[in-house]
Amino acid sequence: MKLGIVKFFIVLSFMAGAISAQSLEIRQVENFCEDWKFHLGDITNGNDPALNDSEWRALNLPHDWSIEGKFDENNPATVGGGALPGGVGWYRKKFSVPSSYSGKRVFVEFDGIYMNSQVWINGVYLGNRPNGYISFRYELTGYLKYGEKNLLAVKVDNSKQPNSRWYSGSGIYRNARLIVTNPVYVDQWGTYITTPLVSDSVSEINLEISLRNSNEKDALVNVKTVIYDPDMKQIAALESKTEILAGGNKKVVQKLKVEKPMLWSIDNPYLYKAYTAIYENGTALDDYITPFGIRTINFDAEKGFFLNGEYIKIKGVCNHHDLGALGAAVNKRAIERQLEILKRMGVNAIRTSHNPPAPELLDLCDKMGFLVMDEAFDIWKKKKSEYDYALYWDAWHKKDLEDMILRDRNHPSIILWSIGNEVLEQWDQEDSLGIKITQELASIVKKLDTTRPITAACNGTSPDNPLFRSGALDIIGFNYHHDEYPDFPKKFPGQKFIATETNSALATRGHYDMPSDSVRIWPERWDKPFRDGNPDNTCSAYDNCRTPWGSTHLDTWKIVKKYDFVSGMFIWTGFDYLGEPTPYGWPSRSSYFGVIDLAGFPKDAYYFYQSEWTDDKMLHLFPHWNWNEGKPVDVWSFTNLSEVELFLNGKSMGKKIKSDDGMRLIWPLKFEKGALKAIGMSPGAALVKKNYTAGEPYKLRLEADRNVIRADGNDLSFVTVKVLDKKGNLIPDADYTVKFEIEGPGKIVGVDNGLQTSHEPFKANYRKTFNGMCLVIVQSDKNYGKIELKAVAENLIPSEMIIYTK
Ligand code: GAL
Repeated sequence: MKLGIVKFFIVLSFMAGAISAQSLEIRQVENFCEDWKFHLGDITNGNDPALNDSEWRALNLPHDWSIEGKFDENNPATVGGGALPGGVGWYRKKFSVPSSYSGKRVFVEFDGIYMNSQVWINGVYLGNRPNGYISFRYELTGYLKYGEKNLLAVKVDNSKQPNSRWYSGSGIYRNARLIVTNPVYVDQWGTYITTPLVSDSVSEINLEISLRNSNEKDALVNVKTVIYDPDMKQIAALESKTEILAGGNKKVVQKLKVEKPMLWSIDNPYLYKAYTAIYENGTALDDYITPFGIRTINFDAEKGFFLNGEYIKIKGVCNHHDLGALGAAVNKRAIERQLEILKRMGVNAIRTSHNPPAPELLDLCDKMGFLVMDEAFDIWKKKKSEYDYALYWDAWHKKDLEDMILRDRNHPSIILWSIGNEVLEQWDQEDSLGIKITQELASIVKKLDTTRPITAACNGTSPDNPLFRSGALDIIGFNYHHDEYPDFPKKFPGQKFIATETNSALATRGHYDMPSDSVRIWPERWDKPFRDGNPDNTCSAYDNCRTPWGSTHLDTWKIVKKYDFVSGMFIWTGFDYLGEPTPYGWPSRSSYFGVIDLAGFPKDAYYFYQSEWTDDKMLHLFPHWNWNEGKPVDVWSFTNLSEVELFLNGKSMGKKIKSDDGMRLIWPLKFEKGALKAIGMSPGAALVKKNYTAGEPYKLRLEADRNVIRADGNDLSFVTVKVLDKKGNLIPDADYTVKFEIEGPGKIVGVDNGLQTSHEPFKANYRKTFNGMCLVIVQSDKNYGKIELKAVAENLIPSEMIIYTK
């Protein structure tokens, strides 16, 4: 074969029968999460294969050691970082490599290690990666002992703190795997699928495949791709031939067509799969699967956002990556549960604030129909905390950004790349650093993907902001400043707009300040953060607490709803997260911003969004009905019905009509023990909601989100614990210590109650209820059977339940 000459044949609809793979058949992908050894603290010879680690703790990944620690305001992460410990940790894994792997290429792949990881194989140093959110891999070929035990050692250094404005977690907190291929193989993140033409009748699929040939001789290979629909029906196929020089790489472009494509959308997240296999002289060398979707996106300066030509308001939330009581340790079911809760609220978009997310989140967004704003950085060159990413910016930003785009660019859910959040370079008027970096980052992104616009989340909203002046952003993103949205078209003529971060409305689930119709702004409460000296009474679940730079939920949504050019908004935040209890300090250790608390229990604002963002008829009535006789209490309702009549002990308190302006209905009442009843009506629909005065605490009740879970050692059941009276009414202020007993093929992996000031451990078999509720998270092991869970508290009737593992 002559060097440099590429032979390229395309055979449309090739013998479809030749490939039937629905999963990988040639490449080996091995779970690399089990049977690790862990040591908390630094040692000098952790990478030495001869080190005796038999006394080290045995565990499986993903693992976050910080979440196992004790809250302490003196921990170097500070309360902003969640007041939990950091430090250095060592992980070691011994694993056998069969002789059949000799001659293969072997890679270890990590989805994310927080932070500053260093990796050794059999004592040989492979490299380090400072960024704690980025996915990366190392090649192990050449250092492996075939047919013998090998040792992979990882040092994780999260000792220099503060390095984050929120809780980061520490350790190998995302998944890891081994990839084994032949010497001719598809590269890491080696496919790139775009759909340059989408119509009802046909879609063009453009597939770029990056191949490597690590052999010493040239390879002439056939590259075959089959596209499958979700039922694994083959719907298009193509084969091409190419030569890859010895030791070289090659990009193969394939163009296929899908007739009458089913478009990916929020309501019908239809996913295709491209299965690509590489052959040489009829021998299969490698295969690779790329899930993808066919859809169009368009941001318009006047009309907002369109998905597949249909106008859609982006109704999003920002979320950090922690999973509450599970810490940063990734669990797919825990992420799925969060998305399910958000879907029911009417959320259609997620902003991965402020870093690349776990790949599982993106897979789930593809599958469940969420739009994603994928964000790269919170920090550029200028630091926000002492030891943050600014230290690594010069050496790493290019590689980190490239790797995020390469990893994520096939996800149909991603509609926006964000190159930064509130970076301090925004504020430089004199020097041109902000302009230069924006342009550089945008060009890094555009080299790898031109199919999505680039934005940055800016709280500097003047057109003088160097990031805006750079001319490199496709969409102007504002954090907060909702009052300025109406003037945007005047100030930024012809530009496109998104509210990248909106309301900073603070609330504690189930806690109500009265009267509720005056909005409280942070400085007023800053001096006296804890009402009546009670640190639990921090902020009201009414929509009446906000930071000076944010707004109530109502105020931002009203404006976003009004103007089409505001393509959408991302609430700060969907879920409460660990760290950043702003505006409060210790003893608070987690945020108050969420529409949903840390345990996953909705606050009242959740129903505000449900009433505005969903069509399924709903009616929410609050607060609870346990107050002192005669106390003035504002009763609120969120509904998407047109009117609600409220009755107190059978007497009408009046009928209220829902308006676009008010969006919520309010009845100022004087408390009277008994029953509140709301009857909501719309043409063709009626709903009733009752809140009773609860009696004495009487019993516990366990309610699992799923009673049957997979026996795979990962799956979870989230069990809510409620303190009820004899009639089954929730006791709205109950704080009982509940103890859990568990038997069978499962264990408790976390407990929580959503209270931001609680210093009880998340890893325990007990928890105090907060405002009547707490949560226990049960994880299966690998055995089929029955998990028996029992909750016990003094003076209450216990509750038991069974969770089946299959
Ligand atoms: C924003 C910032 C977020 C979070 C939030 C708290 O300015 O982008 O990361 O800090 O404030 O209100």
